[in-house]
Amino acid sequence: MRIFSIANQKGGVAKTTTCINLGASLAYHARKVLVIDMDPQAHSTLGLGFEPNEFDKTVLNVLEPPRSPFRAELRDVIVPTRTPNLFLVPANIDLAGAEYRLIDQLGREDFLNSSIKRCPLDFDYILIDCPPSLGILTINALKACREIIITIQPHYFALRGIEEFMETVEIMRENLKHEPEIYVLITIADTRTNLYREVIGEIEEYFEERLFKTVIHKNIALAEASSHGVPVIEYEPSSSGAQNYLSLAKEVINFEKEKPKKRLFRKA
Ligand SMILES: Nc1ncnc2c1ncn2[C@@H]1O[C@H](COP(=O)(O)OP(=O)(O)O)[C@@H](O)[C@H]1O
Ligand SMILES: [Mg+2]
Repeated sequence: MRIFSIANQKGGVAKTTTCINLGASLAYHARKVLVIDMDPQAHSTLGLGFEPNEFDKTVLNVLEPPRSPFRAELRDVIVPTRTPNLFLVPANIDLAGAEYRLIDQLGREDFLNSSIKRCPLDFDYILIDCPPSLGILTINALKACREIIITIQPHYFALRGIEEFMETVEIMRENLKHEPEIYVLITIADTRTNLYREVIGEIEEYFEERLFKTVIHKNIALAEASSHGVPVIEYEPSSSGAQNYLSLAKEVINFEKEKPKKRLFRKA
């Protein structure tokens, strides 16, 4: 089972769009996939066609402290989506209270991780949709995953914007002894512009082989599909968005896992 967090503390860089559509594309390639919505805005839940307030139990119940009467096991919160092979752990706005609820709990950065470890799940992939912040929800996601996909929209300060994120990952490496692999996906790209050509060089130089070869181009079908509550391969299979995410799924499946990657941090 491979566990990915889709992260970047900036909003609007296609984290949720990637979670839904990479998830649906992996499912299309006959993999069993679980999306965990860790964002109180519940955009993955909405984008997969659910009404966030319809659920008795959400991911917040999974993050409850050990002796809480509201606590639930991950398997009891999983719902099937309309896409075969694609499942969801939903969120709703109540998740915004997690920061406060967990504030005095020892080991609170590990609650999602231990909930995944506790119950035997038969998924090939888990994709965790992170909120646009570096709070306890993102830390839980990063701690639970083995691989991180940072989504970046190419613009002049794109690299500067993720410095803080990279620092968080480094602190986690040093203090929590957890070292997930980092990959980078270019999203919402307009490859015809000079801006793109200038910025992409910088990103390639920094991340080298950690950058996915697949680029997700700007494509309105992706936004439309989300607002209809379906993945783009169901909404408009011939769109560039659908084709880009299918090609990303292939790349993820075929990762050369053993290939040494550029060291991003000094050795701990
Ligand atoms: N490749 C794309 N082309 C056009 N619009 C996109 C693309 N990817 C995402 N969007 C739109 O951009 C907005 C932000 O995307 P979203 O996935 O919600 O970002 P995040 O989760 O990082 O905040 C949404 O309205 C989404 O539909
Ligand atoms: Mg989002």
